Amino acid sequence: MRGGGGGGTTAVGWRRRRLSLLHWFLISSSALTTGLGLFILIVRSAAIDAQDYSSTTLVHLHHHHRREVVVQATPDRNNPEQEIDIALNSEDEAAEEARGADVDNSGDEKKKNRKGCATVEEMGEIFKKGFRDESLRARQIIHHHFSLHGAPRVRSLPPKEFCEHGFVLAKASEAGFGNEMYKILTAAALSVMLNRSLIIGQTRGKYPFGEYILYSNLSFTLNEVKHLWRMNHCATKYGRHLVMRIDDFQKPARTEVLCGNWKEWGQPIIWFQNTTDAVAAQFFLKNIHPQMRKTASDLFGTPENLQYRPNVFGELMRVLISPSQTVERAVSWALGGRHNPDIVLHMRMLMNRSVRAVQAALQCIRKSAAKLSSRPIIVVVSDTPSLLEDIKPKLVEFSEVIHFDFEHFEGNITEKKGRLNSNLNFRAKDWGPAPRWVAFVDFFLASRAKHAVITGAQRRVGTTYAQLIAALAAAYQLADNSSAGSDFTYLSSFQSNLLSEGLKNQIGWGHVWNRFAGPLSCSEQTNQCAFTPVLPPAWWDGLWQSPTPRDVRRMEAYGIRLSQLGTVDEDYLHSFCVSNKKKTTTLTVTLI
Ligand SMILES: *[C@@H]1O[C@H](CO)[C@@H](O)[C@H](O)[C@H]1NC(C)=O
Ligand SMILES: *[C@@H]1O[C@H](CO)[C@@H](O)[C@H](O)[C@H]1NC(C)=O
Ligand SMILES: *[C@@H]1O[C@H](CO)[C@@H](O)[C@H](O)[C@H]1NC(C)=O
Ligand SMILES: *[C@@H]1O[C@H](CO)[C@@H](O)[C@H](O)[C@H]1NC(C)=O
Ligand SMILES: *[C@@H]1O[C@H](CO)[C@@H](O)[C@H](O)[C@H]1NC(C)=O
Ligand SMILES: *[C@@H]1O[C@H](CO)[C@@H](O)[C@H](O)[C@H]1NC(C)=O
Repeated sequence: MRGGGGGGTTAVGWRRRRLSLLHWFLISSSALTTGLGLFILIVRSAAIDAQDYSSTTLVHLHHHHRREVVVQATPDRNNPEQEIDIALNSEDEAAEEARGADVDNSGDEKKKNRKGCATVEEMGEIFKKGFRDESLRARQIIHHHFSLHGAPRVRSLPPKEFCEHGFVLAKASEAGFGNEMYKILTAAALSVMLNRSLIIGQTRGKYPFGEYILYSNLSFTLNEVKHLWRMNHCATKYGRHLVMRIDDFQKPARTEVLCGNWKEWGQPIIWFQNTTDAVAAQFFLKNIHPQMRKTASDLFGTPENLQYRPNVFGELMRVLISPSQTVERAVSWALGGRHNPDIVLHMRMLMNRSVRAVQAALQCIRKSAAKLSSRPIIVVVSDTPSLLEDIKPKLVEFSEVIHFDFEHFEGNITEKKGRLNSNLNFRAKDWGPAPRWVAFVDFFLASRAKHAVITGAQRRVGTTYAQLIAALAAAYQLADNSSAGSDFTYLSSFQSNLLSEGLKNQIGWGHVWNRFAGPLSCSEQTNQCAFTPVLPPAWWDGLWQSPTPRDVRRMEAYGIRLSQLGTVDEDYLHSFCVSNKKKTTTLTVTLI
């Protein structure tokens, strides 16, 4: 572990450093003998007085930031004498952040967080306040961007200006909708960050999911750009060949996402590949070039202020996509003249019939519905048909339940279903047995949620699909009535058996709680119904965020050395970038 903490240069500009905890008191009695487990103390450059780790332990840290200690105490809430007290310096930002993260906003600081770990609900408490102002700001940025760099204006630029213009390519195949849509949204976010126009690539003249999704006229197709490039004589007259620079996010040793200054890249087109989740675009938040970090945080907010981050992907979707006519018709059919749903439940069950998942989801729905008027309308969306049989009888006791029953839909998308659905068993385990197009109807039906989107799962909660439902629903709500926007909540439902080892099983980067899955997550939690970030975090800077060992290893390949609490060793990244510079060659291809 590097001693970055004392280094003056790295501390500069590292906002994290301002998060400070003056003292950590770790107090435990007879830790080992009573099975509390061990403390693993990982200390970065701290002045520490530690007398005795084994029995009565008092560790007293004098230091200026909180991420000094990893406490892997097996949390035992029934064992109050074994606890970790954290005294906060109430005068600084850390205290503010900590207050937000606590379940109990009253009471004295010392009483809080004595576990040294947090439940999912405690972690989610900071997201309760919503994200209305931040999202309206992001909406402004996005609007401004597309009014300047949207296709309608850019295609009519004079030749010289057009030829100097830059583009970002979005290319998606028709695999899982969530992953593929994130590829498009990442490109869109990058185009905003870099002042470039967006190209949405087609395959044989067809947009990704083009039968179900319409794309607004703000983006180009690659064919149109090629056409305009010729028409404006960009190559012949201005010497600008239509060159594309390719950067592959899934090649950690090659990607320039952390080391390159993409603002300075001169190639007309940039294609940032394999960005299948919310985190890729947010990697720029830790890019070594201040200019890149700034442009990223202007859009996404800063990673240490988790509670002030906008609904970037929802806002992007709102301006870029809409349902096709057939899908829209199916959505209206499912609603059958009723209002938009109050609550949407998404359950990814992977054909598993988990009673506990259903019970936890019901608890979460009841909690959410309690705030609403009588008989709310609830939409249920799942990859697993039997879920409806299990949950509907309980839901109808207090709500009106809507589910898109594709077998009875007569608008007939089925006829046009084409090759995508020719094999019904294709990835049925993963996507469910319903034809693919049903997922699009479900998606746009669910995105009409007025008050809450609740996501549950047999195993991993908050999939990319569920994230995008919540993001789009939140963006629509903000559109309909900005004063009511903060009323919208995104909730995660966890049944206790998923949390026996805390969030440790939320391993995929596409899952919204992954960045909380490290040692600060309490094991043996009860059922949780937690406020959930509508913009999934990509870093571990929040108070209760910590990485899994798997992610520590994975990040190392990107040049990021993480402490067990998720702080980034910036010196290490810098030297990684320098030593990697010689090796990296981004692929460039000439299109014209
Ligand atoms: C683009 O779409 C918007 C809204 O759908 C429409 O008002 C506008 O006229 C369109 N612009 C062009 C250039 O097609
Ligand atoms: C991007 O455009 C904005 C105005 O829309 C401008 O303020 C900013 O300086 C530009 N950044 C770069 C790097 O071109
Ligand atoms: C990244 O994307 C490209 C193009 O879609 C694909 O050919 C390549 O196999 C992907 N790389 C990885 C590591 O998945
Ligand atoms: C269903 O999920 C539970 C809990 O995750 C698991 O124990 C069980 O093995 C799963 N059953 C099947 C058939 O996958
Ligand atoms: C819808 O399409 C299916 C499959 O092509 C067909 O069997 C069914 O009769 C059609 N229904 C209507 C109402 O057209
Ligand atoms: C917006 O919300 C406010 C307060 O909830 C309500 O009074 C108003 O009628 C709403 N406006 C629209 C256009 O829905």
